[in-house]
Amino acid sequence: MKAVKIGSPASVANLQVVDLPDPGQPAAGQIRVRIHANSLNFHDFGVVNGNLPAEAGRIPMADGAGVVEAVGEGVSGFNAGDHVVSCFFPFWENGPPAIADFSTTPGDGVDGYAREVVVLPSRYFTHAPRGYSHAEAATLTTAGLTAWRALVVDGQLKAGSTVLVLGTGGVSIFGLQIAKAMGASVIATSSSEAKLAKLRELGAEHTINYRDNPEWGKQVRQLTGGRGVDHVIEVGGPGTLPQSITACRIGGHIALIGVLTGRAGPVPTAALMARQQRLQGLIVGSRQDQLDMIRALEVTGIKPVIDSTFTLDKLGDAFRHEESGAHFGKICVAV
Ligand SMILES: NC(=O)c1ccc[n+]([C@@H]2O[C@H](COP(=O)([O-])OP(=O)(O)OC[C@H]3O[C@@H](n4cnc5c(N)ncnc54)[C@H](OP(=O)(O)O)[C@@H]3O)[C@@H](O)[C@H]2O)c1
Repeated sequence: MKAVKIGSPASVANLQVVDLPDPGQPAAGQIRVRIHANSLNFHDFGVVNGNLPAEAGRIPMADGAGVVEAVGEGVSGFNAGDHVVSCFFPFWENGPPAIADFSTTPGDGVDGYAREVVVLPSRYFTHAPRGYSHAEAATLTTAGLTAWRALVVDGQLKAGSTVLVLGTGGVSIFGLQIAKAMGASVIATSSSEAKLAKLRELGAEHTINYRDNPEWGKQVRQLTGGRGVDHVIEVGGPGTLPQSITACRIGGHIALIGVLTGRAGPVPTAALMARQQRLQGLIVGSRQDQLDMIRALEVTGIKPVIDSTFTLDKLGDAFRHEESGAHFGKICVAV
């Protein structure tokens, strides 16, 4: 079977397309899945370009979706022919988070889904939403579930709330869609006027060009009558957090998700304290969170926004496209 492995040294240019032996039939508790799609995340980019240390020869990609081909003895809940999607934390079934690293995450601590067939314990997958293509399902593992957890699990989002999403990457677009479907209103930012227009088409009530308005936090406050938003999906990190604190209401919730502007930096802690905001770090979510999200996606009819799809042997081009920042929503891979 065809697969992609990380070369040594790790770099996008050094991704290796290889032929591997077929993994065979599932043992007890396992399922055999033919992978049809991956989606790209900033995390996967860090793994393939060596910014996040992974073993040489690691098969990248945390997000995989496909079809169950066979089930091992004792597996319940899956049958041959089922459409499935991978879990970011296969060993976090439910309840509060207990894992603070990527040692069990496919495509990082263990091999991921840039390959045609996997045989794994059934806990590595859930069913995909009904009516989703494999590419659409593959967008859920990381980006979809992160936005869901930020707003619904940790944020306890209510109809009528206001949500701020930053930029037009995978997590932020899911955040916009989930917020709209649940009756919230959305303020969205981007560096591109064309992308701001697309955000409005998706239902954002207000949009702000963060390049032209470096003090966008104040503008968000003005747009909310001085109050500030209830929730911020904070994908930027140190470079955007001060503005997010300004943009968020007193007692509001900031889901600290991303590192787009760096991995560390000064935070105006006194402002955070004075505004009595809840700053919650998070990494994706549990398998149960994924099941809950999928039920919600089926009922609300939300469909992921896919920017483009590359073939597996062009995975490097897919990452270069992500690096360019030209995309809107998710970049996918047809396996
Ligand atoms: N903690 C978690 O569980 C988790 C899960 C998923 C992702 N993440 C993190 O979340 C971040 C976003 O991930 P992603 O997969 O959605 O990335 P992505 O799809 O690659 O998003 C990139 C987009 O972010 C926007 N952006 C870049 N710099 C920005 C800035 N200074 N201010 C506002 N927007 C900015 C740009 O939008 P415009 O082109 O519109 O300007 C860019 O197109 C990454 O840091 C990633 O590591 C964390």
